Amino acid sequence: MPAKILDGKLLAATMRADIAKQVAELKAAKGITPGLGVILIGADPASTSYVTAKEKACEEAGMYSEDVRVPAETTQAEALALVQKMNADPRIHGILVQLPLPKHIDEAAVINAIAPEKDVDGFTPINVGRMMIGETCFLPCTPNGVIQMLLSAGVETSGKHAVVIGRSNIVGKPVAHLLMRKAKGGNATVTVCHTGTKDLATFTKQADILVVAAGRPNTVTGEMIKPGAVVIDVGVNRVPDATKKNGFRLVGDVDFDSAAQVASLITPVPGGVGPMTITMLLYNTLESAQRLSAKG
Ligand code: GUN
Repeated sequence: MPAKILDGKLLAATMRADIAKQVAELKAAKGITPGLGVILIGADPASTSYVTAKEKACEEAGMYSEDVRVPAETTQAEALALVQKMNADPRIHGILVQLPLPKHIDEAAVINAIAPEKDVDGFTPINVGRMMIGETCFLPCTPNGVIQMLLSAGVETSGKHAVVIGRSNIVGKPVAHLLMRKAKGGNATVTVCHTGTKDLATFTKQADILVVAAGRPNTVTGEMIKPGAVVIDVGVNRVPDATKKNGFRLVGDVDFDSAAQVASLITPVPGGVGPMTITMLLYNTLESAQRLSAKG
């Protein structure tokens, strides 16, 4: 039986409407407009399109957004100075440095420079550490978006076997942590597969919940999925397509057509996890502004 679609676009729209309402309330009650500062270094087409979408979403939610786009030749010292300027700017409650950075810039040093109280991506070591030990922190956007989708669809995670493919700092590692933590949308038994995993299908076939963040199309096909599993496809890959105006189409890491014949619930690409990532960024930025307002 074909799977039901887990529609991230719809959930994102509902959550963004609620965020916009809270933004308006914060403005009316405290005169604070949540602000997101975005730094894009270089002109990678995918990064440029993500950043544009993030800013548009911010404005639609009634937030302030500051856009700094600088050339790929920007030095590390210049990149650090951009972050420090936003750290000190009271209009900015959240800072996003779009990754990846050009090769000559030390990504860790730039992330480390973000003030943890403005780290709405949840990428700084302080935030990652706080998340690992269950302290108040900003949860990373894509992993939290995945959990919110599972919760919204009423998927039981507790006691289930979740298999994550991918071990990146942005998705694989944190989503595995959120799925295993003792909390709503967690308490699963988690297996993490990666490029060193031998015979991937042995593991994917055991998954009640399969989260695929491998960064490669067709990493998972229908015959690798346990019947009735929930499949979350985090992949966003551009594949050439001459029939499209821009010359490409977006596909995930999962072969959707064959997977949808076996799974019970599946996210599409586009329109699945992607819109939720941006939504959780707005959520964190609002939360950052609310924390500040609570301090007085
Ligand atoms: N590059 C890919 N995903 C992300 C993300 O969630 N945040 C940032 N800053 N860069 C990314």
